[in-house]
Amino acid sequence: MKRVFITGASSGIGAALAQYYAEQGATLGLVARRQAVLEQLLAGLPHPERHRLYALDVNDHAALTAAAEDFIAAGDGVDVVIASAGISQGTLTEYAEDQQVFEQVFATNVLATVATFTPFIATMKRQARAGQTDLRLVGVGSVAGIRGLPGAGAYSGSKAAVIGYCESLRVELRASGIKVVTIVPGYIDTPMTQVNHYKMPFLMPARQFAAKTGAAVARGSSYRVIPWQMGVVAKLLRLLPNWLYDMVFSKAPRKARKTIN
Ligand SMILES: NC(=O)c1ccc[n+]([C@@H]2O[C@H](COP(=O)([O-])OP(=O)(O)OC[C@H]3O[C@@H](n4cnc5c(N)ncnc54)[C@H](OP(=O)(O)O)[C@@H]3O)[C@@H](O)[C@H]2O)c1
Repeated sequence: MKRVFITGASSGIGAALAQYYAEQGATLGLVARRQAVLEQLLAGLPHPERHRLYALDVNDHAALTAAAEDFIAAGDGVDVVIASAGISQGTLTEYAEDQQVFEQVFATNVLATVATFTPFIATMKRQARAGQTDLRLVGVGSVAGIRGLPGAGAYSGSKAAVIGYCESLRVELRASGIKVVTIVPGYIDTPMTQVNHYKMPFLMPARQFAAKTGAAVARGSSYRVIPWQMGVVAKLLRLLPNWLYDMVFSKAPRKARKTIN
């Protein structure tokens, strides 16, 4: 029985991954701040008695470590850790008050990804030395991290950092037998994108995204853009010279600025 720890499990991609892995027969550790929403999710999962809920803020690294230790102890190890908790807000550097938003976005999207993985690595290394080959740390980037989007300096910057960080970790852990998988979502239909009032090409249902992510994680893919059409877009974006990118994307639709929760 696979043991899968997922942050951001109360909504969107994390909730769809919880459903996907529960249907595969996994034992889950589910993290998010909203206890009531986690309980609602749990009630709808196969074998709710197998899973553990951790209502905490991923920016509370001590609480995250305690949850990881509890999950490892309960299941005598761990197989897959997915850091899906994330926030997205429009930001403009010219507003001093947005500094705080930058800090929260980087803390939740980048530093909490690190803090999610840290308490699992020693245990995973032991499991790998014992011969286990399906150990995975899964980071969630974004196509918005491939090139900087206007009005999204915090989000684009944070997701570029997640992508770079996960690549460092992947190479760092290569010899250990733990595989680091970077999942790069395009537009996925979740509460995060349901507030966007612009056209979202290749928008994919969260359930379909979760199945594709689960397959990429099982294969131990190093880096996967989902849906694949956005993978093509991401490759093209990398190729565009700055003058052309700047001309086209200065008119790109922007995420609204507002206070974050
Ligand atoms: N949807 C997309 O198109 C898309 C595209 C690219 C990348 N992504 C990335 O995919 C991940 C999931 O996004 P989503 O679309 O599923 O968003 P979502 O529906 O808004 O879900 C975000 C999840 O993160 C949790 N979360 C946020 N801040 C937290 C905190 N401080 N502590 C604990 N949990 C926290 C939320 O739970 P609580 O509020 O209960 O704490 C919620 O479960 C994010 O990293 C996002 O950046 C999404």
